[in-house]
Amino acid sequence: MAEYWYIAEGFEERLQNYLKDGGESEVDLMFAVPEKDFNTAGKGSSEVKNLLKRLGVDSDILRRIAVASYEAEINVAAHSQGGVMHSEIFDDLIHIRFEDEGPGIEDIEQAMVPGYSTADELVRELGFGAGLGLPNIKKNSDAMHIVSAKGSPTLVEFIIFFA
Ligand SMILES: Nc1ncnc2c1ncn2[C@@H]1O[C@H](COP(=O)(O)OP(=O)(O)O)[C@@H](O)[C@H]1O
Ligand SMILES: [Mg+2]
Repeated sequence: MAEYWYIAEGFEERLQNYLKDGGESEVDLMFAVPEKDFNTAGKGSSEVKNLLKRLGVDSDILRRIAVASYEAEINVAAHSQGGVMHSEIFDDLIHIRFEDEGPGIEDIEQAMVPGYSTADELVRELGFGAGLGLPNIKKNSDAMHIVSAKGSPTLVEFIIFFA
């Protein structure tokens, strides 16, 4: 299994503290993300966004969470055999995890390159496949983590702090 980490500058310590002792989340939400179902994919992201809005999360942070979670959710639908989106909301951050059933990413560094895409014809016809999803998740996250390999499940997770 290959692993990729991105941690935004200045967030190393907060991230370490969270990973060491995350505690109990305030809200825990799970959504299924079926393969190639672009009516369902995006629902989890939009529900989480609506909930955070009601909780009064700052609009710029809300936008970053919405972009990152939508891209990751679409990726599970577009590139995997389906998976789940697991969102944990804490006082000061959101941690969203996407776990799918494979077929995995052969070269994560390459997948991170803007414009790189293996999207098939169907996915492209629906307007996805610009190769900007993973770079956009990185751009909008305070921390991003990918674990995958060819022929394996993929984990994509990110953390965004509220302030
Ligand atoms: N969950 C996933 N499972 C397998 N491959 C993935 C997954 N997410 C991303 N990828 C791979 O990384 C590439 C880049 O992803 P992304 O930047 O979102 O671009 P796009 O989705 O437009 O192709 C995808 O084309 C695909 O090869
Ligand atoms: Mg994508």
